[in-house]
Amino acid sequence: MLGIIGGSGLTQLANLDVSHREVVRTPYGEPSGPLTFGRIGCQKVVFVARHGYGHTIPPHLVNYRANLHALHNVGVRRIVSVASVGGIRGDLRPGALVVPHQIIDYTWGREMSFQSGTDGPVVHIDFTEPYDAALRRQILAAAGRAGESVHDGAVYAATQGPRLESAAEINRLESDGTDIVGMTGMPEAALARELELPYAALCVVANWAAGRGDSVTGIQFENLEAVLHEAMGRVRTILEGMCTS
Ligand code: HPA
Repeated sequence: MLGIIGGSGLTQLANLDVSHREVVRTPYGEPSGPLTFGRIGCQKVVFVARHGYGHTIPPHLVNYRANLHALHNVGVRRIVSVASVGGIRGDLRPGALVVPHQIIDYTWGREMSFQSGTDGPVVHIDFTEPYDAALRRQILAAAGRAGESVHDGAVYAATQGPRLESAAEINRLESDGTDIVGMTGMPEAALARELELPYAALCVVANWAAGRGDSVTGIQFENLEAVLHEAMGRVRTILEGMCTS
């Protein structure tokens, strides 16, 4: 079963044929909302809105552990995270879809491991490739079949939020080698890896990052909603085509 974690702009999946919703509790607390079960295209999916269905949970307060644990517990075996990001690299302009291949974590103070130090030996997960290579290929192939253009590979900078970055911070992120910036990529990717759940992200560039493009003097919030709305239609089409044998 495919798990989909929807971010800003994707609090619902319009093409999801819903069978039921389930409130799930985990040892780590409650997920961002009830899990929505259904079918999209030819496959069974479970959907959760990362920021809650009313978009009330900011990135630093998302219960990432509960979301991942709940999805794992109901039988999800691969997860696609849909996330909006700011574009740093020159070709990643608003509206672009990106499947990142690497990540740098700038977040702090989040519960970023299932290991509590009380139950079992310490495990150091391998995170050389933070996103599952096969799942990335499946997303890219589905996009190809749907005729949607998607950038293959980018380095995702996971920032703390909820505020956006300063222009100088974006300059630093760029010199660190990052291409896109978002607030939710970590610890989500690492937690999925701890659970050995293949995880990949399909990112939508919602805006130019601070100091770039039309964000030179400030982020153009008025454009955000329209950009996300249009791009999420393409995201849904891609997800619909993600059937595997
Ligand atoms: N910065 C961080 N997170 C984001 C941005 C951004 O510019 N746009 C969408 N999510």
